[in-house]
Amino acid sequence: MPWRLFFIYLIGSLCVGQQPNNCKSLNINDKKASQSSSYTSNGIPYSADRAFDGNRLTCSHTLQQTNSWWSIDLQGVYNISSISIYNEGGIYDFINLSGAKIYIGNSQQNNGTSNTLVQNITAFRTNQINVYTFPPSVLGRYVTVIIPENKYMILCEVNITGIKIESPFLLIDTNNTWEEALSYCRDNHSSLASILDQQMQTFTELEAEKANSPFVWLGLHYTCSLDLWFWVDDCTVRFKNCDMSGAMQTQGNHNFFSKFGHEKFNFICAL
Ligand SMILES: *[C@@H]1O[C@H](CO)[C@@H](O)[C@H](O)[C@H]1NC(C)=O
Ligand SMILES: *[C@@H]1O[C@H](CO)[C@@H](O)[C@H](O)[C@H]1NC(C)=O
Ligand SMILES: *[C@@H]1O[C@H](CO)[C@@H](O)[C@H](O)[C@H]1NC(C)=O
Ligand SMILES: *[C@@H]1O[C@H](CO)[C@@H](O)[C@H](O)[C@H]1NC(C)=O
Ligand SMILES: *[C@@H]1O[C@H](CO)[C@@H](O)[C@H](O)[C@H]1NC(C)=O
Ligand SMILES: *[C@@H]1O[C@H](CO)[C@@H](O)[C@H](O)[C@H]1NC(C)=O
Ligand SMILES: *[C@@H]1O[C@H](CO)[C@@H](O)[C@H](O)[C@H]1NC(C)=O
Repeated sequence: MPWRLFFIYLIGSLCVGQQPNNCKSLNINDKKASQSSSYTSNGIPYSADRAFDGNRLTCSHTLQQTNSWWSIDLQGVYNISSISIYNEGGIYDFINLSGAKIYIGNSQQNNGTSNTLVQNITAFRTNQINVYTFPPSVLGRYVTVIIPENKYMILCEVNITGIKIESPFLLIDTNNTWEEALSYCRDNHSSLASILDQQMQTFTELEAEKANSPFVWLGLHYTCSLDLWFWVDDCTVRFKNCDMSGAMQTQGNHNFFSKFGHEKFNFICAL
């Protein structure tokens, strides 16, 4: 088993026979880790993915700086119940993670530290597995470990346990006008996606990042007769020539732009 991120389903019996959605096997390959700085020794880059490369003797490693961090993008939203960390390294104090903090959530801002602080690491034990459990499980796309002092961030083996939250949205990767997109989603699914809270924003971003167009249509529409933006969820939309729709940038900060509805982009349906 070459990967160190294990998403085990806590309610195992659910996965037998019934095949509910959350039992889909996970593609661990698409997880993306990053860290605050790059450290190289003897020509070997101690990259962030070494924290889950299946070898507890190879570690991720940053430079010695204040607020050194390691972060992983799980490429999905998980209900995370525990994280375990193993650091190999004899007596060296610099592999002691005491003082580090673990954050989990959906925001990339401030290198993940805008998310929920779930653990202050104290009395870290080296050459042993340190298990941190979160009784009221926390939801998130990003897990960040950060050490506020002027130290290295070194991680030899990290396991994360959680259940994937199924996305309520689906990217349709063909280019359509906004009106075509709306009727496609209403015909085949439920509607164009509406973002009503932070978690839906995250699910939208995850779908948008798979698009092959620079923007994606969502169910956000502007009517000039009423001078009003609204989510089309349950509304009947009457089209006027000047009407605009809201499109989300597929990369970068996922900003919204108003676009004329006759432009053609990929789009996101609500399931
Ligand atoms: C997350 O998992 C816990 C059990 O570990 C469960 O009680 C909770 O309802 C779950 N939350 C969500 C949003 O699925
Ligand atoms: C991670 O999981 C693997 C497989 O279950 C186990 O062998 C290893 O000891 C675990 N490591 C940590 C740090 O929990
Ligand atoms: C995020 O981390 C980088 C690399 O350590 C640092 O340069 C930057 O200032 C950090 N950003 C914030 C907002 O803390
Ligand atoms: C971590 O420590 C800070 C104070 O240093 C405290 O406010 C916070 O509640 C602690 N968080 C956890 C999850 O233990
Ligand atoms: C790591 O540091 C903490 C606090 O300074 C200490 O309690 C702990 O014993 C140290 N762990 C090891 C393995 O030295
Ligand atoms: C529903 O999906 C099918 C197959 O993808 C497509 O051919 C059809 O045009 C869609 N319906 C609408 C109204 O776009
Ligand atoms: C959709 O349009 C973009 C340009 O906006 C283009 O790069 C992409 O290839 C198109 N996708 C399809 C499936 O035609």
